[in-house]
Amino acid sequence: MAEPRRLAPGRLVLASHNAGKLRELRAMLQPLGFEVVSAGELGLPEPEESGDSFHANAALKASAAAQATGLPALADDSGLEVAALAGAPGVRTADWAIQPGGGRDYALAMARVAREAGANPDHSCAFVSVLALAWPDGHVQFHEGRVEGQWVHPPRGPDGFGYDPMFIPAGESLTFGEMSSGEKARHSHRARAFQAFAAACLR
Ligand code: IMP
Repeated sequence: MAEPRRLAPGRLVLASHNAGKLRELRAMLQPLGFEVVSAGELGLPEPEESGDSFHANAALKASAAAQATGLPALADDSGLEVAALAGAPGVRTADWAIQPGGGRDYALAMARVAREAGANPDHSCAFVSVLALAWPDGHVQFHEGRVEGQWVHPPRGPDGFGYDPMFIPAGESLTFGEMSSGEKARHSHRARAFQAFAAACLR
C-alpha cells in the first residue's frame, strides 16, 4: 500500500455524487481550511463501481476525479456488512437500493436486509468506510473506518441518509437516523476513516 503523503489545505475534489456523503465530508474538511468542490459540481460523470472491494471502488472514483481535474481527489466507498448475511450487502450496499425503474429506494433496501436476515436472532452488523486519496500523478492512499452495531427494522428516525435509520452503533440506543449530524460523527465509520486520513496526511 502506498505511503501516505502530506496534504496541504487547498483545493480538493470530493469524488462523490452522494449528497449524504458530501455533506458529512464537507463538514469535516471545511473547518481544516480546504476549498472543497464535488465531482458533480465540476460536471464529472459518476464512474461505474466495477470493483469487488471497498478499496477498489474508492480508488476508481478518486483516481478518475484526480485525472480529470489535475487536483487531489478524495473518495469514500462504504457499506453495511450484516453478520447473518455473511457480510452482505457489503460492497453492493448501494445496489440493494436500486429499483427496476432506475431510482434508489432505501426503505426497500432496508426491508430487504431484514427479510433476508429472516428470523436469525443475530442482528450484529458494521458500517465500513474506505477513503481513497488520489493524486494526479497516480499515487493513491487509503484510510479505513469501521463501526460495529446492531440493525433494527422497522427503521427509526428522519435524519441522515441511506441505511442510517436501521443502524444502532454499539453501546448506544439511538439509530444514526435519530442522531444529530454531530452525534453521528462521534461514532461513524466515515468519521473514523477521516480521523485516520487526518492523522496520516494533515500532520
Ligand atoms: P457506495 O460507497 O457508493 O458504494 O455506496 C455506499 C452505500 O452504503 C450507499 O447506498 C449508502 O447509502 C450506504 N452507506 C454508506 N455510508 C452510510 C452511512 O453513513 N449511512 C447510511 N448509509 C450509508
